[in-house]
Amino acid sequence: DWTMGAFRGEAIAAIRRKVGDGRVLCGLSGGVDSAVAAVLIHEAIGDRLTCVFVDHGLLRLGEAEEVVGLFRDHYNIPLVHAQAQALFLDALAGVSDPEEKRKIIGRLFVSTFEAEAKKIAADGRGAPEFLAQGTLYPDVIESVSFSGGPSVTIKSHHNVGGLPERMNMKLVEPLRELFKDEVRELGRELGLPEAFVRRHPFPGPGLAIRCPGGITPEKLEILRQADAIYLDEIKKAGLYDDIWQAFAVLLPVQTVGVMGDGRTYEFVCALRAVTSVDGMTADFFPFDMAFLGRAATRIINEVKGVNRVVYDVTSKPPGTIEWE
Ligand code: XMP
Repeated sequence: DWTMGAFRGEAIAAIRRKVGDGRVLCGLSGGVDSAVAAVLIHEAIGDRLTCVFVDHGLLRLGEAEEVVGLFRDHYNIPLVHAQAQALFLDALAGVSDPEEKRKIIGRLFVSTFEAEAKKIAADGRGAPEFLAQGTLYPDVIESVSFSGGPSVTIKSHHNVGGLPERMNMKLVEPLRELFKDEVRELGRELGLPEAFVRRHPFPGPGLAIRCPGGITPEKLEILRQADAIYLDEIKKAGLYDDIWQAFAVLLPVQTVGVMGDGRTYEFVCALRAVTSVDGMTADFFPFDMAFLGRAATRIINEVKGVNRVVYDVTSKPPGTIEWE
């Protein structure tokens, strides 16, 4: 019979067989999948694994510190923290088309990752010939079904698309047979902190696709603050684990409000929360009104730049989970 403990052992043996005495590069996104893949590979080959965390400046409040802290300090896994915030934000300035944003982010992600890989290859220990990815079974299925059907791409998912071919590296994908809940279980098995294992998925393009319209550092800061308060309220209400993904979206719309005896003209923040099994379909989460009122009041009172909060009651389909 099949247990996670047995899977762990077999996966480690398979990684060792495949990699031999070679080196592996692994891109960390901050999400559960790449983290579990990295910890598993580290267990298999130790410091012949190097992780690269590309910080594109589109992360949530405190997220970079959390990821770097966990890997570098807790697990002692060699980790390069690529500070590419200015590079990404400059390239995204004035861009509002969602697909254009994804393309820019995907292209810069690849070039930043390649540049870091070159530095690592020059460290005297030989160039890594393997690239690790936290690909899951649903990712495999989704790309298969797209290739057989009509050539309609709803959203171009970036991850590290095209990287292995460009860099002439072989892929290591130890999670290819697993569903999300199994990856979480494997993460627990590998001793990842429970809070990390339970984290909601976060898209590669990050806050860029939660900030419809043009992106500015100021808007990102407003979004980070609102998002952190919303998630804090969700955790306080004990609802985090009942939700697949919850996040704030900062709309490129300003509306009129009153504060004290003055008129305000600030941005609208939309709140999103969905339940889902695999992200392919989703239902909006039925918060009670008291919860929504609390979250809205806190965001409006504590975040400068927001004077109105709305809740998104669209399911998928016809909506998507993200707004872009
Ligand atoms: P949608 O918005 O398509 O999202 O309903 C489905 C799931 O995929 C995530 N998502 C992405 N993940 N790169 C990623 O790595 C992307 O470009 C991307 N776009 C959406 C989304 O957060 C949700 O979990």
